[in-house]
Amino acid sequence: MLICVADVLSKSDVADFRRIMDGCVWEDGRSTAGAQSALVKSNEQLPPDGEVSRQLGNRIISALSANPRFISAAVPLHIFPPLFNRYAAADGHRFGIHVDNAVRGDRLTGLRIRTDLSATLFLSEPEEYDGGELVVEDFYGSHEIKLSAGDMVLYPASGLHMVTPVTRGMRVASFFWLQSMVRDVHARSLIFDLDTAIQALVERIGRDDPQTVKLTGVYHNLIRYCAEV
Ligand code: NI
Repeated sequence: MLICVADVLSKSDVADFRRIMDGCVWEDGRSTAGAQSALVKSNEQLPPDGEVSRQLGNRIISALSANPRFISAAVPLHIFPPLFNRYAAADGHRFGIHVDNAVRGDRLTGLRIRTDLSATLFLSEPEEYDGGELVVEDFYGSHEIKLSAGDMVLYPASGLHMVTPVTRGMRVASFFWLQSMVRDVHARSLIFDLDTAIQALVERIGRDDPQTVKLTGVYHNLIRYCAEV
């Protein structure tokens, strides 16, 4: 299940992020890669434990905490501190096909999570670069994703994925993982579909309609049935 969440950051927030990031020293992206992915990874990252990564990452987590579509899609338990990367055409940056590590530990906070979902938050506009598509493989085939700056995609961390070579300009993004309260991807998908339908019903017939109330109860009981907290 691929889910796009639009406008996680405003355009002015994105501009502020980019201005701050432009003034930073970047390092080889392989510092956070696993053994297999290090072989195919070619990009740069902000130091994961650095002050800038933490401050900007906290701004992303704050924005997500107030985003109903994100909460509905991810049912998040823990969000890993966001990381930041860039792919430059001049350096032939790319990230070949790989799968993300199943468990991630954060050195600073001691947080350790199971990576149920991967997230990419785009910080460059599509016009700024060629190539650099995020390609995610799932049961239904291969999907190419390139979103506007400030928009984010969520996809199962269990899937093979890659970033195609950037052939012009620079692709800047934030990426991170999260552990969901609902481990099973199919159950999570059902919960998201149900919530989306309830929100549409609320718009049409109101939150107080007896059937809306009943379905809202089903939603919460489904979470109660599936959630690990
Ligand atoms: Ni990855």
